[in-house]
Amino acid sequence: MLPEIENVKAEIINYTISNKKELEEFRIKYIGQKGLIKELFGLMKTVAPQQRKELGLQLNALKEMAEAKFKEYQERFENQTNEPILPPYDLTLPVIPDSLGGLHPISITLNRIIRIFRNIGFDISEGPEIEDDWHNFTALNFPHNHPAREMQDTFFIEKNPDILLRTHTSSVQVRVLESKHPPIRTLSPGRVYRNEAISARAHCIFHQIEGLFVDKNVSFADLKQTLLYFAQELFGKHVKIRMRPSFFPFTEPSAEVDVFLGTETEADRKLTKGTGWLEIGGCGMVDPYVFKACGIDAETYTGFAFGMGIERIAMILYQIKDLRLFTENDIRFLKQFIRIS
Ligand code: DAH
Repeated sequence: MLPEIENVKAEIINYTISNKKELEEFRIKYIGQKGLIKELFGLMKTVAPQQRKELGLQLNALKEMAEAKFKEYQERFENQTNEPILPPYDLTLPVIPDSLGGLHPISITLNRIIRIFRNIGFDISEGPEIEDDWHNFTALNFPHNHPAREMQDTFFIEKNPDILLRTHTSSVQVRVLESKHPPIRTLSPGRVYRNEAISARAHCIFHQIEGLFVDKNVSFADLKQTLLYFAQELFGKHVKIRMRPSFFPFTEPSAEVDVFLGTETEADRKLTKGTGWLEIGGCGMVDPYVFKACGIDAETYTGFAFGMGIERIAMILYQIKDLRLFTENDIRFLKQFIRIS
């Protein structure tokens, strides 16, 4: 057998056909008018007359073989209603695990705090991070010479000193009091900004959550009870709170709130510097000046307010020692919170 015929024969035997398109390609390549077998028949003219018969037999056998293969596949595909739909990938391969994202510890802490206050009827209010002097300072009774108004404490906009990055979420108190009528029970979480050098304990951007409760006959006892409820829900029923007299221009009287975590564990002793107590925020009764500035009748209504740092609470809850970890986006730190919500 001529090597050309031998090669084509082997090709036909090994040719894989897996759909109608490939069958048609097979047909054109070997059996068609311009196919390889037709071309091989051209060899008849080149061989000696006595070899012609033998060559003819071989070529005919080759042609029959190709046609038989064609027919076999044609029948096979005809019996199928549709061509097999082959996925572009191998479904039997094991899956490539996709790493799950998670909430940031600040979001987790914030959500926990919100859930606790929602249960006692607080809603959420938001205010802008780019504030004006009135909402951040003046309406909150900050005198003109107050140190918080200094350039080294607050980020101001150079072209318009009336515009600043809010230094606390207390500015949202003013916005709520200006736009709503008591009773008011609201929480205002969000980002705040201070012109501070970044260290393990301070950052120029951090988060606070503000609470405001205004109604008839709201008393300091309500404030104390609300904060005790909150502290026990967040840190456990065993914790106590204490209030130390303090000063804020927008509350009178004002207090700092401490939580008693105890001194039993090494972590608690470290966190509380051996005292068992840890400060979580400021609070007080809304100063009548603020009510007046916002158009609320200070004779009819009283209220309390409180403000807490979210980072600080997250640091207590998860025993985080460096504030910078919250903003470094180090995946080794963040992934420890994936299963916490
Ligand atoms: N705005 C205060 C701060 O950033 C925190 C604060 C204190 C908020 C007393 C209050 C409050 O609502 O009553 O330091």
